[in-house]
Amino acid sequence: MAAAGSGAERSRSTGLSSERTNIGVLGGGAWGTALALHAARMGHDVLLWALEPEVVRQVNEEHENNTYLKGYPLPENLRASGDIRQVASFGEILLMVIPTPFVERTVSQIVDAVRDDSILVSCTKGILNDTLETPNEILKRVLPPRLHSRLAYLSGPSFAAEVAKAIPTAVTIASEDDHVATRVQEMMSTPRFRCYRTHDVTGVELGGALKNVLAIACGISDGLGFGSNGRAALITRGLDEITRLAVSLGANPLTLAGLSGVGDIVLTCTGDLSRNRTVGLRLGKGEKLEEITATMGGAVAEGVLTSRSAHHLAQKQGIDCPTIEGIYHVIHEGKDPVQVVTENMSRPLKPEVNILVAEAAQRTVAQP
Ligand SMILES: NC(=O)c1ccc[n+]([C@@H]2O[C@H](COP(=O)([O-])OP(=O)(O)OC[C@H]3O[C@@H](n4cnc5c(N)ncnc54)[C@H](O)[C@@H]3O)[C@@H](O)[C@H]2O)c1
Repeated sequence: MAAAGSGAERSRSTGLSSERTNIGVLGGGAWGTALALHAARMGHDVLLWALEPEVVRQVNEEHENNTYLKGYPLPENLRASGDIRQVASFGEILLMVIPTPFVERTVSQIVDAVRDDSILVSCTKGILNDTLETPNEILKRVLPPRLHSRLAYLSGPSFAAEVAKAIPTAVTIASEDDHVATRVQEMMSTPRFRCYRTHDVTGVELGGALKNVLAIACGISDGLGFGSNGRAALITRGLDEITRLAVSLGANPLTLAGLSGVGDIVLTCTGDLSRNRTVGLRLGKGEKLEEITATMGGAVAEGVLTSRSAHHLAQKQGIDCPTIEGIYHVIHEGKDPVQVVTENMSRPLKPEVNILVAEAAQRTVAQP
């Protein structure tokens, strides 16, 4: 391990750790590469697994991932490998940055290669279509129980390109084990990348996955020319839907008011770097989904898949989610978005604050 100091070594001026370690990263897409770059800039030794041999070659020979994160030079202490088991056993921390549909297949290949003392950090945002599982649920099904307490989840408002530019960013690390969350916080935080922590894995994962559906909704609204009022209404009432759905599955409502909820919703519903919002914009301007995805060059807009999972999850939980339902009908059944807006705005009138969320908020105890 590339330890450059004692376990608890910290900078006197900032309180941030100066200890360095080895970090493996599974997934050479935009987000995996940006996180690998961030970790390498911190001075960690980083080994990145990419599915595509061409990405491995680009990282090792050109020191740039021209395929998924063009324009950001990668330092020498960030190397790539096509050997997934080598990367899985490389470091104390393993960041898993794989789109949801490929998590099970990818992680199944490394089950017996992961060290007992490793921390596995899922950075994926999505919900599986067929089983409605979040990455946490997939990982707990695939990985042996000895590793369950070693799992953490990184989420929050973070465009890959802005992390690559070292623009100030704040994220949340969720883990059922406070020591695990704290360790990831210490090993990933810098003055440009601040990590908070929480125990609420459910809230963090659902916020990160469901906001992508709202981003598509806001894109459609903008594409239709509905302006700032429409976008603000979608963000606020969409947050209410996400919060009610997440609370029905055990989440703390205040988590949804944090970085992985409001923070990520604001980012993806207003930021032009959001692929999901871009998909919505183009849908709102009349393009077909197939035409849009065909021009994305292999990049994944998780919200398209998550819109189907979210629709089924809301039905399963018996939670009324008109925006989520509307996006499902637009994307998967070709319904006219203007008709969805008219129908949703014409529903029976009701109070703004849902009683179940208000009660859950009252029960909430402050989390560390
Ligand atoms: N891009 C961002 O700014 C960002 C930010 C936060 C979270 N995320 C999340 O990170 C995850 C990864 O997204 P990304 O933006 O890095 O991906 P991407 O769209 O840039 O790249 C696609 C990735 O999918 C991988 N892939 C394709 N087919 C595969 C297969 N059969 N098996 C395994 N991997 C396969 C590719 O190798 C590549 O790593 C997603 O869940 C996304 O929601 C992305």
